[in-house]
Amino acid sequence: MKTIDLRSDTVTHPTEEMRRAMYEAELGDDVYGEDPTVNALEQVAAQMMKKEAALFTASGTMSNLLAVLAQTKRGDEIIVGSEAHMFWYEVGGASALGGVVMRTVPNEPDGRIDGAAVESAIRGKNIHFPPTTLLCLENTHNRCGGAVLTPEYMAITARLAHQHGLRVHLDGARIFNATVALGIPASELVKDADSVCFCLSKGLSAPVGSLLCGTRDFVDSARKWRKMIGGGMRQAGVIAAAGIVALRTMIDRLAEDHENARRLAHGLDRIPGIIVSRRDVATNIVMFELNPTVSGGELLQETEAHGVRLSYRGGQQFRAVTHRMVSAADIDEALNWVELCLKKLGTGTIGSLE
Ligand SMILES: Cc1ncc(COP(=O)(O)O)c(C=O)c1O
Repeated sequence: MKTIDLRSDTVTHPTEEMRRAMYEAELGDDVYGEDPTVNALEQVAAQMMKKEAALFTASGTMSNLLAVLAQTKRGDEIIVGSEAHMFWYEVGGASALGGVVMRTVPNEPDGRIDGAAVESAIRGKNIHFPPTTLLCLENTHNRCGGAVLTPEYMAITARLAHQHGLRVHLDGARIFNATVALGIPASELVKDADSVCFCLSKGLSAPVGSLLCGTRDFVDSARKWRKMIGGGMRQAGVIAAAGIVALRTMIDRLAEDHENARRLAHGLDRIPGIIVSRRDVATNIVMFELNPTVSGGELLQETEAHGVRLSYRGGQQFRAVTHRMVSAADIDEALNWVELCLKKLGTGTIGSLE
């Protein structure tokens, strides 16, 4: 049975060109700083973000944790959006390993955190308070349906944070989805952030890895923290090689994923019983919910049985993510199955596609 996997863009496999580059990669011991392929990837990443330096890490989660470890101290408070990936899905690492309090401020549905809300969450000088030292933003915003923060918002919000002595970290796991949607270079979008990370293993289709970028001093510190948490990799050029190909060949095609996401959202919106949470799908993530007459868990089981995999968020809530391994025809097929499965759950019969 064919599978149309819309759970996440992380399910993408490396391309032929990536596999060849991995096979042929020049290698060294990266803990000694001697892996030429890792060094090349870090250099490309730093150039693309127009930051002084970059560090290759195992994952977005590791990059975000290192950004906290290198820019705060135990007992600090950091501000994160109430829907932030760092808050929801990173096992509380910033608090458990970094010793910081995560203060959540509501995310607007478009992924922004309101400036006034940030300002009122920043602690004043008081013996009772932990000092607020870091603001974390996310672009594109995963739980806000792939919403895009603009450079104007970034500039205003970072200025406010800096005025209060905070540093700014940008979780840019899907930063290239944002730059493709906005039609601007990444460096323009991240210029106001002190640190930024982005992932190679999501829409860019590389098998592993993330890059954390910032000043030379910050990256040196993050490198040391990475070693402490066991993230010093040796002949990591094997995976870095795929990352270099990803940055060269996979960014522009993200527009196709965005087009397919809009196709999916429009199609879902036409299916009775489904409500698409945001119709103005900006990038590759579509959030939708079922009306309460059908159980979300049952729909998930039913679509899975027909090869359509969705990300189930509990209750009536679903997420679908488009990527390189899903074509426009696959989207149409997935829409057919979702509609038929819903009909079956409503009426007990599956109809013509079975
Ligand atoms: C916004 C965001 N940040 C960070 C991550 C973490 O990346 P990883 O799965 O590589 O740890 C993800 C993963 O989906 C994400 O969506």
